[in-house]
Amino acid sequence: MTVILGIESSCDETAAALVGDDRRILAHKLGTQEALHRPYGGVVPEIAARAHVEVLTPLIEAALTEAGMRLRQVDAIAATAGPGLIGGVMVGLLTAKALSYACEKPLIAVNHLEGHALSPRLADPTLAYPYLLLLVSGGHCQLLRVEGVGRYKRLATTIDDAAGEAFDKTAKILGLGFPGGPAVEAAARLGDAKAVPLPRPLKGSAEPHFSFAGLKSAVLRAHQAGVHTPQDIAASFQAAVVDCLIDRTAKALATCDDVTALVVAGGVAANASVRAALEALASRAGLRFVAPPLWLCTDNAAMIGWAGIERFAAGLIDTLEVPARPRWPLDPDAEKVRGAGVKA
Ligand code: KG4
Ligand code: ZN
Repeated sequence: MTVILGIESSCDETAAALVGDDRRILAHKLGTQEALHRPYGGVVPEIAARAHVEVLTPLIEAALTEAGMRLRQVDAIAATAGPGLIGGVMVGLLTAKALSYACEKPLIAVNHLEGHALSPRLADPTLAYPYLLLLVSGGHCQLLRVEGVGRYKRLATTIDDAAGEAFDKTAKILGLGFPGGPAVEAAARLGDAKAVPLPRPLKGSAEPHFSFAGLKSAVLRAHQAGVHTPQDIAASFQAAVVDCLIDRTAKALATCDDVTALVVAGGVAANASVRAALEALASRAGLRFVAPPLWLCTDNAAMIGWAGIERFAAGLIDTLEVPARPRWPLDPDAEKVRGAGVKA
């Protein structure tokens, strides 16, 4: 069996995992920095990088202990090399380089988005290429045709904010706390999704792109008007996001007639309303729907280890010169979208 050590440190989770090519997760250790960032209402890059330095090595040691393995017994070391907050990415990638050099093990630089994109295959052995992926996280909102390891065709992206970012900003406006996604989902459960009329940006437009900035501004105006409860605004906001995600995904689906499944991944895929609506869309289209378990949707090291397994099997090994990259598109040939901000 091939076993890979996976390392994740691109945002506010530090994680180490040992993953086998038989899809067994021999160990997974995750340290969340939520409490450190909560006073600021968002992730502070400098604080994140320092915290990664402090906890990464103990997490790797704990993962090895849990799996009953020594570092020399792993076959390769995979780490997120971008995109993400560059200080954190450098901590994980440099640690991986040092271990790779010291133990003479191959190094695999993983694109964090590829980790999310392939995570459904870790959870479901029957999921075959090609599949249509809705990748919805804090920094990204994209529709991708996943054709194989390292082969991604971007069909759509956001022209401004990512969906998770909209959840986080809505939580901040409504005073629901940090991290925003789960807080908005919990508040939405207590509210009326029809109470507040909110826009559905780009719904019905020809290209399947996304936009969430206008929705966020509408949430701010609704809150300032002081008429509705935070629960009603949260429920109405979540319904608007789901509407947009479904409309845009349906548009992209109409252009892919050979995909084996509709798949969702990334932090926002942990949202029950998002999952249920996508499942219904897949069923209308006569397609399988695949979503990883909740813990595999948000940032973790098992998905980085698994991407490492797929890359290792394909002979995709990196050298110690591989750079840490704050930006790293999955599809380098994707056209720039008019109005697209830094999140594209
Ligand atoms: O994939 P992820 O853990 O980190 C990035 O790579 O960005 O995604 C984090 C994002 C955050 O914006 C968070 O608010 C959102 O995913 N999120 C959710 C939920 N859980 C996490 N959004 C909506 N509902 C949730 N239950
Ligand atoms: Zn992520």
